Amino acid sequence: MMTKTWLITGAGRGFGLEIARAALESGDQVIATARDLERLDAVLPRDEARLLTARLDITDAEAATQVVSDGLERFGRIDVLVNNAGYGQVGAFEELSPSRIERQFQTNVFGTFHVTRAVLPTMRAQRAGRIINISSLLGLVGTDWWSIYCAAKFAVAGWSESLSRELAPFGLSVTAVHPGQFATDFLDPTSLGLGDVQIDDYRSLDHARRSFVAERNHEQPGDPVRFAAAIIHLADHDAPPARVAAGTDALHSFEIRAHQLLDSADEWHDFAVSTDAVVDADV
Ligand SMILES: NC(=O)c1ccc[n+]([C@@H]2O[C@H](COP(=O)([O-])OP(=O)(O)OC[C@H]3O[C@@H](n4cnc5c(N)ncnc54)[C@H](OP(=O)(O)O)[C@@H]3O)[C@@H](O)[C@H]2O)c1
Repeated sequence: MMTKTWLITGAGRGFGLEIARAALESGDQVIATARDLERLDAVLPRDEARLLTARLDITDAEAATQVVSDGLERFGRIDVLVNNAGYGQVGAFEELSPSRIERQFQTNVFGTFHVTRAVLPTMRAQRAGRIINISSLLGLVGTDWWSIYCAAKFAVAGWSESLSRELAPFGLSVTAVHPGQFATDFLDPTSLGLGDVQIDDYRSLDHARRSFVAERNHEQPGDPVRFAAAIIHLADHDAPPARVAAGTDALHSFEIRAHQLLDSADEWHDFAVSTDAVVDADV
């Protein structure tokens, strides 16, 4: 397998860190980015020849352009972009201030766009490249208390699927990965954004969900190291899929969603076709 150059966002911990480690271990070159450069340098092995670390808050479009240009100066090409950086904003929709909602989209959606926009001219010119977008199981199935995170991850998945068609003529592949629950810092107070307003009607929902999060934090069934190994494998695959589940829980969600759509198509068949224009057979 040819040596590849990866650009990974949010590489200071969680999935991003494990993917950066796995890519280096497999002999590839890595541009690892994080908001906290000192911590990034402390957690990744020193490797002047194959690793470039850079500070990148993905909400900063200019910084994304600079990172790409520094990466190209060092390695000459970018083969795999992993849009990994993101966080979960939770809380009942009505409890979330517009600024919290905007921040979720500025990061998970627009931040992902900034980095991709910075990389695409290079990948198009190369007529080769792979983009791996980390969506979520909650980018396929909506659920209460997670509506804003779901909205952002559905956006990433829909954009990703569209991009996979738009970029295929240039030899690029785009995959949305839908992970289930993995034992990273995702549910930790250092990552998770909680709601800032309390409305009595949502109190029991809030209580139940907060208890679940506290119990499940760092106890999720998915293994981030094995997730990273799967991503390395995906980047080498001849025909990467537009969407893929990661974790048995995510796989079940794919199956449930497929059945729900088929059931809806069946049960609401007449409703759906009732809106077609009536074609007069006699004309
Ligand atoms: N773990 C799961 O169960 C799960 C499931 C489905 C999807 N995901 C998705 O997987 C991705 C990685 O999350 P994780 O599970 O590895 O959680 P994590 O351990 O909390 O790591 C999140 C990473 O994203 C970074 N990040 C957040 N906002 C950023 C910004 N504005 N600019 C740059 N980096 C930023 C964080 O950087 P700092 O260290 O600076 O905060 C951190 O490195 C996220 O997109 C998440 O939504 C996770």
